[in-house]
Amino acid sequence: MAGKEPLVYIDGEYHPKGSAKISVYDHGLLYGDGVFEGIRAYNGIVFHLRDHIERLFEGLRVTRINVSLSKEEMANVVVDALRKNNMMDAYIRLIVTRGRGNLGLDPRSSPKPSTIIMCEPVAPAHGKEAREKGVTAIISSYRRDMVDGTTHELKSLNYIQSVLGKFQAIDAGADEVVMLDHRGMVSEFHGSNLFLVKHGILNTPTSAAGILHGITRARVLKLSEELGYEVHERDITPYELLNADEVFLTGTMAEIVPVVRIQGVPIADGKPGPVTKEIIRAFQRITQDPKEGTVIREAVAVQARARSH
Ligand SMILES: Cc1ncc(COP(=O)(O)O)c(C=O)c1O
Repeated sequence: MAGKEPLVYIDGEYHPKGSAKISVYDHGLLYGDGVFEGIRAYNGIVFHLRDHIERLFEGLRVTRINVSLSKEEMANVVVDALRKNNMMDAYIRLIVTRGRGNLGLDPRSSPKPSTIIMCEPVAPAHGKEAREKGVTAIISSYRRDMVDGTTHELKSLNYIQSVLGKFQAIDAGADEVVMLDHRGMVSEFHGSNLFLVKHGILNTPTSAAGILHGITRARVLKLSEELGYEVHERDITPYELLNADEVFLTGTMAEIVPVVRIQGVPIADGKPGPVTKEIIRAFQRITQDPKEGTVIREAVAVQARARSH
């Protein structure tokens, strides 16, 4: 791909990155009215593509965006975008907006949603050094919303709260920011989920704390059990967080990263712990496993067979 611009899929057509455009009247831009997914392909395997498509369609249901593609077709266009870009390792951004309407908020003025797919070479949110040494975090003063239609369970195009939280981290010289929920319980990081380890047991906040149902989080929950750990989804107080033995974050972009200092307090001895390291190693292994996703080559072959029938 060196020197060549990635191709962006917009509603059935491909455009070079520099000239890929949608209308300024798109309600995705005007109102954050849309949903999206961040997806990874590892070595020709699109990691848990089906789960991403499921989550996207759940968001589409709640926001009542009536996309014309089926789940199957949506998965196929993601694979097709990777194939067109000749990318085996990539970060993929799949976006569905309400589409072009008028300046009013009324969603009925936008009858046709827009589907956009960008594929980029992977640029992890935190690099190799962060994975080895860990990152720092502060606790945001902004609170995740109550669990209603605007909760972070919905991966909508409105990330302003996370952006404001990130500014607080930047201002404090920290890498990450922990968001609390409306009760003051720990929710998640601004763009990733949170786990803590205490006495060898893993803990992570529940949906009730306004988290995004992270695909990485779900896989890490299962993986921890496979590795023989006890795992609890439960309410976590900030006090418990600061007294954890280990803390780590999970997300498609960041994968798994140890968090070694929060609000100026070192987590245990301020170094990545053994459980986190074990889970990072095991996670790296599963990203290379064809059973953990959609194999691009196989999916392309299936599509070609279907077309020839
Ligand atoms: C707010 C938020 N929480 C958690 C996550 C992690 O989710 P996933 O593992 O599906 O990437 C993300 C990822 O984009 C996010 O934006």
